[in-house]
Amino acid sequence: MDVTANPPIGLLAELTHRCPLSCPYCSNPVELTARDSELGTAEWTSVFGQARDLGVLQVHLSGGEPLTRRDLPELVSTAAGLGCYVNLVTSGLGLTRERLTDLVDRGLAHVQLSVQAATPALANRIAGVKAHDHKLAAARLVRELGLPLSVNVVLHRANHDELAGIIALAERMEADRLELANTQFYGWAALNQPALLPTREQLAAAEAVVRDAAERLRGRMEIVYVLSDYYERFPKPCMGGWGAHQLTIAPDGTALPCPAASAITTLEFDNVRDTPLADIWYRSPAFTAYRGEGWMREPCRSCERRTIDFGGCRCQAFALTGDAAATDPVCHRSPDRHRVDALLDAPATPGEFVMRGRV
Ligand code: SF4
Ligand code: FES
Repeated sequence: MDVTANPPIGLLAELTHRCPLSCPYCSNPVELTARDSELGTAEWTSVFGQARDLGVLQVHLSGGEPLTRRDLPELVSTAAGLGCYVNLVTSGLGLTRERLTDLVDRGLAHVQLSVQAATPALANRIAGVKAHDHKLAAARLVRELGLPLSVNVVLHRANHDELAGIIALAERMEADRLELANTQFYGWAALNQPALLPTREQLAAAEAVVRDAAERLRGRMEIVYVLSDYYERFPKPCMGGWGAHQLTIAPDGTALPCPAASAITTLEFDNVRDTPLADIWYRSPAFTAYRGEGWMREPCRSCERRTIDFGGCRCQAFALTGDAAATDPVCHRSPDRHRVDALLDAPATPGEFVMRGRV
């Protein structure tokens, strides 16, 4: 047992990989889980109970699109009934007044709505379907029913120039919080990296736009800006540390220390169908592999920032070096930084998207 581990606070429940959208920046794995492999209602009910017993306080119902699950109302009731704060992470497609009213009655506390761009034509092109108007309607519903609303926008080369318009749109939606996250390259997004990576000029222009908006909207709408880490000198403190605060359950019951971790082929992940969640969190080789500092090598081992960024992102280290224990190559102290620089220097392929697949 890993006695250094604290209990998890959050559970990301990826109820399904089914989704009506096909965004090329999707962080779902390229090998999507088919519907007949998804956990059933009773299995999710058991997962939520075990998670609560472990200490989980926040349940994020995500996907794919969680609204494609017919048992979503029951799952909301279960998680809320356990005393958890229940957040719905959705594209908004399929969210009707009737469905949302029912979910609110059952204890849904918060909606996180994805938006692709400011202008309908670009937003629909990125989504792969006519989704934009549904999102405006979904935002109106959330506000009318009095729920807090977060708007999430993945930023990339194709929509960066609409940043001011995106902020204005979130204002019109009366969002409480706007997360502007530059694409992180996992899953489908990794396939699309040459098309999605923003330019240095776009990022420089964005800084002032975000700073001015955050100042102007202080107290009305919180703006969170997630940097494009390839351009940074230090890596992000991914997940606040591996296996430190949150766990993800994939649609087929695979338990992951982070949503993208299934791509790390050198780790074996347990499944909640076979192993109790507490054993997975405290004892499984996958969750304990990179917890704390013991696994670190140089330059992280003796670096003063190791308690700030935890050596960066394990998924990124694996994707770029084949070794999940390597220093995140984003770090300028990493011997692999040249791999990131090579990606920055590689020719871009603007607009040439591999759209996310369907299951
Ligand atoms: Fe972070 Fe490791 Fe780089 Fe230090 S050497 S800044 S701990 S990634
Ligand atoms: Fe998996 Fe960073 S995305 S550890």
